[in-house]
Amino acid sequence: MKAAVLNEIGDRELQLRADVTTAELAPDQVRVRTRVAGICHSDLAAMDGSLPAMAPGVIGHEGSGDVVEVGEQVADLAPGDRVVVSFVAPCGHCKACASNQAYLCDVHVIEGLSTPRFSVGGEPTFGFAGLGTFAEELVVPRAGVVKIEDDVPYEVAALVGCAVVTGVGAVINTAAVRPGSSVAVLGCGGVGISAIQGARAVGATTIVAVDPVVGKHELAERFGATHATTPDGLADVSQDVTGGAGFDYVFEVVGRGSTIRAAYDATRRGGTTVVVGAGSPEEKVEFSAQELFMMERKILPSFYGSVDPRRDVDLVLSLWRTGRLDLEGMVSKRIGLADVNAGLEALHSPDGGLVRQVITF
Ligand code: APR
Ligand code: ZN
Repeated sequence: MKAAVLNEIGDRELQLRADVTTAELAPDQVRVRTRVAGICHSDLAAMDGSLPAMAPGVIGHEGSGDVVEVGEQVADLAPGDRVVVSFVAPCGHCKACASNQAYLCDVHVIEGLSTPRFSVGGEPTFGFAGLGTFAEELVVPRAGVVKIEDDVPYEVAALVGCAVVTGVGAVINTAAVRPGSSVAVLGCGGVGISAIQGARAVGATTIVAVDPVVGKHELAERFGATHATTPDGLADVSQDVTGGAGFDYVFEVVGRGSTIRAAYDATRRGGTTVVVGAGSPEEKVEFSAQELFMMERKILPSFYGSVDPRRDVDLVLSLWRTGRLDLEGMVSKRIGLADVNAGLEALHSPDGGLVRQVITF
């Protein structure tokens, strides 16, 4: 089969290969035929080494498809089932799982970092985040797939697996935003737009989208932002809509130290700063001891939207079904696997029209 392979960490391009097979199916795994894969900023972070990833590896961690084979221990899925894949595959037994923090279960994450999921030209090859959706097929733990109804388009399903649950989960799970709140969202990519939509869905009344790419502003307003501004204009907008007090909640969805700091500064005293972006180890952020105490802003990190895929994929899809989330509208561009490098390149220099690019198989 075909797949897009990162030969070495640091490569700016993936290599398209046609001599790829999946690893042998383990008893607790399923084999999925990929139908749609989303291109996420974290794929770039895997390629440049700022997120943990193994090479050679098949990139891609957002996707949907059809089950084609199940391992002998898998009794509750069958070939033909439509599924979303998730890089969080809760083991169900560890401390995180027992503490209602399935998103922090690292059992299968460690397995994914240490067990090749593919073979390329005979060489064992990893799957990014234990997945590798830039491939026509992949093998994943049973716990890393969620069965979906037939009415869910594969494109919608793919986005739900990462960007949408992360952004909506940050609003609903991590921050538990209250109706009537004022919210600012820094970064209007697939995850930020999902946070904006989540904020609208829970009844936030002021939602300010912040992005240096002016073309993103109108887009953000289409998904629920009541105001939109560049980072430079945020203080003025805050003056207008909060009287300068700051926002109840500010979501950082970029993944940089400077934007975490900007999010903190935009939060009202006693409000909540939510860190959604996946930053690198080099990015630092500084707070004075006094401001931490005096301002009493809550800083809430949000890993994968504090999501349990077994619960939140269905939650997000029910919000979509009842018209509270526009997920079709987030698909900006469809490309074939052969154009994956152009798709990744486009993320390096975001333009106004782009929320999510998807690869259709
Ligand atoms: N302030 C606000 N927005 C910014 C800034 C800034 N200083 N700098 C860049 N941005 C915007 C970009 O213009 C872009 O619109 O952030 C957006 C990032 O969007 P994408 O590249 O599409 O990223 P996305 O896939 O949404 O992921 C965002 O969340 O889960 C993480 O790893 C992911 O860290 C990444 C972040
Ligand atoms: Zn676990």
